Amino acid sequence: MTDIKIAPSMLSCDFSNLESELKRIDDAGADYIHLDVMDGHFVPNITFGPPVIKAMRPHTDKIFDVHLMIDPAASYIDAFADAGADIITIHAEADKHTHRALQHIKSLDKKAGIALNPATPTSVLDHVMDMVDLVLVMTVNPGFGGQSYIPLEDKIADVRARIKATGRDIDLQVDGGITDITAPKVIEAGANVLVAGTHVFKDGPDHYANQIQNLKEG
Ligand code: DX5
Ligand code: ZN
Repeated sequence: MTDIKIAPSMLSCDFSNLESELKRIDDAGADYIHLDVMDGHFVPNITFGPPVIKAMRPHTDKIFDVHLMIDPAASYIDAFADAGADIITIHAEADKHTHRALQHIKSLDKKAGIALNPATPTSVLDHVMDMVDLVLVMTVNPGFGGQSYIPLEDKIADVRARIKATGRDIDLQVDGGITDITAPKVIEAGANVLVAGTHVFKDGPDHYANQIQNLKEG
């Protein structure tokens, strides 16, 4: 059985209490802390950048999984690495020089991820599979939490087959509209890291651990 990891998206937490929210989500059993960085240009929303991530860093030892929805991404990679990111994921659509940006992330000893919007074909992975540690299949159009899951199980299965062909241990992450209903579908299709914002945070701190566990069990 695959080990399923849950990456709660802090986009849905109480931003006025970031420190406590981080500690609660850590205690609740999060595997990765998913941090959604938006620039109001690549996506129609703005969130936070390196200083906020740096301020969060001392409050948990969990893996910081930084999802960059910014264009360009390349010029900010050093800043996110310095701020304490462990995984840096860039969008295939956001940077003309995806290969160079991934190389740069690897040169900083960080894990490199590549994200694909719902309409982006998996063929963009053709020449970068040997460099990536994570492939993120977006199951909503990025920009906002709380959107409905777009059924892309065939695409997830296609990425799983590509990962298998490399023989390497690459995370297959799915992000957007993950709930107790959609989690089993994406797990069945081959995902092993599930990002979830709304579902984990919606019922308050007393339920974080249960929600994470439910998603994990599919
Ligand atoms: C969307 C973000 C997601 C989002 C997920 O652009 O990348 O990480 O926060 O939120 P839910 O789980 O509410 O769909
Ligand atoms: Zn995300």
